[in-house]
Amino acid sequence: MSDHTDIESVLKEDRIFDPPADFAERCGGAWVDSMEMYRELHRESIEKPEEFWGAVANELDWFKPWDTVLEWDCPDARWFVGGKLNACHNCVDRLIDLGHGDETAIIWEGEPMLADGPEVRQLTYRDLKDEVSRFANALKALGVSRGDIVTIYMGMVPELTIAVLACARIGAPHSVIFGGFSSQAIADRVDDADSGIIITCDGAWRRGSTVPLKDNVDQAMEMTDRIKHVVVLKRCDNDITMHEGRDHWWHDLVEDASDECACEEMDSEDMLFLLYTSGSTGKPKGIVHTTGGYLVHTFLTSRYTFNLRPGNDHVYWCTADVGWITGHSYIIYGILQNHVPTLMYEGAPNHPEPNRFWDICERHKVTHFYTAPTAIRAFMKWGEEHPRRHDLSKLLVLGTVGEPINPEAWMWYRRVIGHGRCPIVDTWWQTETGGHMLTPMPAATPTVPGSCTLPFFGIDAAVVDEDGGEQPADTGGLLVIRKPWPSMLRGIHGDRQRFIDTYFSRVEGMYFAGDSARRDDHGYFWIMGRMDDVINVSGHRLGTMEVESAIVSHDAVVEAAVVGMPHEIKGTGIAAFCSLGPDWKPDEALRKSLREHVAKEIGAIAKPDMIRFTDSLPKTRSGKIMRRLLRDIAAGREVAGDMTTLEDFSVLANLRSQDEG
Ligand code: PRX
Repeated sequence: MSDHTDIESVLKEDRIFDPPADFAERCGGAWVDSMEMYRELHRESIEKPEEFWGAVANELDWFKPWDTVLEWDCPDARWFVGGKLNACHNCVDRLIDLGHGDETAIIWEGEPMLADGPEVRQLTYRDLKDEVSRFANALKALGVSRGDIVTIYMGMVPELTIAVLACARIGAPHSVIFGGFSSQAIADRVDDADSGIIITCDGAWRRGSTVPLKDNVDQAMEMTDRIKHVVVLKRCDNDITMHEGRDHWWHDLVEDASDECACEEMDSEDMLFLLYTSGSTGKPKGIVHTTGGYLVHTFLTSRYTFNLRPGNDHVYWCTADVGWITGHSYIIYGILQNHVPTLMYEGAPNHPEPNRFWDICERHKVTHFYTAPTAIRAFMKWGEEHPRRHDLSKLLVLGTVGEPINPEAWMWYRRVIGHGRCPIVDTWWQTETGGHMLTPMPAATPTVPGSCTLPFFGIDAAVVDEDGGEQPADTGGLLVIRKPWPSMLRGIHGDRQRFIDTYFSRVEGMYFAGDSARRDDHGYFWIMGRMDDVINVSGHRLGTMEVESAIVSHDAVVEAAVVGMPHEIKGTGIAAFCSLGPDWKPDEALRKSLREHVAKEIGAIAKPDMIRFTDSLPKTRSGKIMRRLLRDIAAGREVAGDMTTLEDFSVLANLRSQDEG
């Protein structure tokens, strides 16, 4: 169970909410309108996956049809084998061909509040095609060709989506790095991907100040010599240095570029993108997603999970950053394919005031709102008066993703944001799964606060023991997926063995997600939290070892152990236990310096919330750090369980007696 979720209340949870009676009508119809339909379709999709997914794939455009829907040789899945298509074509050109060229594809709002309101841009599918094509031609002119990995490190501006789609158009896989990551993180990812080009901005707006993206890239370039070209979008007009020959302004490159650029015919199994995510060991791993299956899965999950109606009746807003999988799948690819305007917002939820999100919902008539529990907990703390100031009556569906949602936050979301008339879709999935795996169908599934309910179509999810046997109701176990699904990861870039070891070795023949879960007696899934050394901080994944190595790279630290701890807003916070070299004094200044150091090594999201100093760490006789004890200490709990192997009891006493910091 994740530290944040109150296990008692979850186990006793008996509130059930049926979809609101008028929901389908308010939405203009429902794709899946009853539990009977859900169960029937789910059964068919599991029994005949080829027929089910083949029919979905037929709704997209293929330059050449596939020969076989699925080839599965665990752990290798190949979907729509032999088919040729292009992701950008399916998100943009296909909609123009269908006659929707002049309809809105993207609504973007900048962060700064100008005298006459915020800057807003709307792009139609035709605008998007022109801009994407121009930029795609600019990339080609810089020598980027099919198969070259393009790194993107930008703020939330429309050009980020344009850059992603331009890569897809010319068959160059993108590797988007979240703009909150540090220069070290950029250099590591560029090296791992062997990427020769990076697209960035001069800066990004965040709470009224600029994040120096280009400076971070410059620093990263001192750590790697792979990058030949840096493309810079002018956004904040902050002072930056342009390096002659290496750096190019976006606006210069596109000025004379043609707005005609044919889409590359990609193989269904060609890589569409790489996205780095944290694991329990080592550096972040580059998760490989390919083209056909990913598009089909994100297309269908977007349609069904959010009950999207094609056209301009719905306005969909996902508050994630495109730098995470949620942004890839449910700001860009899944939503654009569904012919629904997708809203992108540049900045912070509380700038200039804590009502900013609700102001955006009201002004843009947002119908679908998708966010993370950590954000909901922040809204709760800021107070109901902010959403109450705004007309949220257009909202139809509320979504949540990224971490377990505590029932209290779920109820608040339903009552204060949804006014009791919007179903909540709690969607469980991962960077590796590419798209939704467990989720309610908003017009069909009765929902229970804290449960992500039931598997999506084609998903054979189960809670099993180490031997792969299904656990009885209300018994925790490993969350696995027993059959392949279209948007599953195809590998870890450059590390076949790690791919097999991480996902397909724990339980024979099944994908192990890294989470534990239980099912209740209705078969509903309850995610209990990560089983590995990954912590979920504000819905963002971090490896404890990754943070430990960042801390240990500080001169003062000899040894460090990092564990998750309950945190009111973040769900899980980071607690670091450090032992210092002989010449270092454990004081506030050092704590501050360590926090800054971690921000520099990884990014601000990885800064420890609590740092405790100790002469040595509690270890077993065989030398393993006793993380369970550290978790108890960090949580302020009585240290429970067997301690007979603890090497030195005084270590424990020492750790507990310290002031928090
Ligand atoms: O532990 C689960 C948690 O987030 C992990 C995946 O993180 P990431 O790859 O960064 O993707 C996040 C966005 C899809 C999972 O292993 N998680 C994600 N969604 C939920 C969740 N935990 C509980 N409930 C969810 N709805």
